[in-house]
Amino acid sequence: MTKKILVLPGDGIGPEIVAQARKVLDKVNLQFDLGLVFEDGLMGGCSIDAFGVPLSDETLARAASSDAILLGAVGGPKWDKLDRAIRPEKGLLKMRSSLQLFANLRPAILYPQLADASSLKPEIVAGLDILIVRELTGGIYFGEPRGIRTLDNGEREGFNTYKYSESEIERIGRNAFEMAMKRNKRLCSVDKANVLEATVLWREVMDRLAPEYPEVSLSHMYVDNAAMQLVKAPKQFDVMVTGNMFGDILSDAAAMLTGSIGMLPSASLDKNRRGMYEPCHGSAPDIAGLDVANPLATILSASMMLRYSLNHAAVADAIELAVSKVLDQGLRTADIMSPGMRQVGTAEMGDAVVAAL
Ligand code: NAD
Ligand code: IPM
Ligand code: MN
Repeated sequence: MTKKILVLPGDGIGPEIVAQARKVLDKVNLQFDLGLVFEDGLMGGCSIDAFGVPLSDETLARAASSDAILLGAVGGPKWDKLDRAIRPEKGLLKMRSSLQLFANLRPAILYPQLADASSLKPEIVAGLDILIVRELTGGIYFGEPRGIRTLDNGEREGFNTYKYSESEIERIGRNAFEMAMKRNKRLCSVDKANVLEATVLWREVMDRLAPEYPEVSLSHMYVDNAAMQLVKAPKQFDVMVTGNMFGDILSDAAAMLTGSIGMLPSASLDKNRRGMYEPCHGSAPDIAGLDVANPLATILSASMMLRYSLNHAAVADAIELAVSKVLDQGLRTADIMSPGMRQVGTAEMGDAVVAAL
């Protein structure tokens, strides 16, 4: 049986890093006879240039009928001045929301070979393995009303709405508890319940779910403290669950613990575990086209795709092992370079992972 993968390289470094993940997927597709069929599409700035919108109805329909989606990254200075409604990022948000990809898994794992690349001392990060579960289709990212309005006194006011319904909290909460069950059974829910009502309800729902998962120990932490604890003693965490905006911020911070934002993959799943897979980083306009971007977050996202949406855990394991072998060989892109290692470009890193498979 074939499986259809929609590939959306996007903007900036997107095409460069996705090309490496494609090489890896092409290799395992042959090696393990996976029956993957790839289709290319446009989302983000490239789609604005081609069709005038960041995500066309046609691409969205193709995404909806795919078994999984692989995304590079969207956005860049070329499109930053456009009307908010058609900015590249709107395409990504529309995709997440339309397909109800509410569960965003962002695993921050330190490969032991990269202990020197982390901005923290090796003893603080050695053995780090955290899973951030970020709610992805609600919260302040999507809350209405929102906008910029002119007040009676003539000055303008920007406003957004932070809200979560009980059912939205419950479904991401269950997801996080289930992830914790498969790991070290510790779940930390991150909120701002000392200030924001939406997160008072968040905490209440997490507490209500807890008795259904008696093996999981649930704790709560305010987001400001969580940011501090992530850089002070990150290994205290197993699974963290949080809302859309806090998860966005905390996962970029967690990325640095692993050596680079170029190491952090992600899965965005619906209730049936169909999903979109993308690195957590953006389109990195500052290094686009230079063959220096780290493709490993995208390659590891492809591995998550095999694990979560395509039911090929053994193949996912093989890709992760290949990444580890390449790091053992001392190959490093610029962002994770350290003394004594050999610096390679984006394409050479991709080739090395393919060769290690
Ligand atoms: P960014 O993640 O693109 O870049 C931040 C820094 O990290 C830059 O210095 C960049 O060079 C570096 N970096 C990122 N990925 C890297 C990689 N793979 N290898 C080496 N270095 C890497 O964030 P930004 O600069 O704030 O945003 C740039 C654009 O990307 C914006 O338009 C933003 O909206 C968009 N963005 C898109 C996504 C997405 O598509 N999922 C995510 C974040 C940002
Ligand atoms: C991410 C990005 C997106 C987000 C932007 C580009 C809309 O930062 O995937 O982390 O904020 O979710
Ligand atoms: Mn982000």
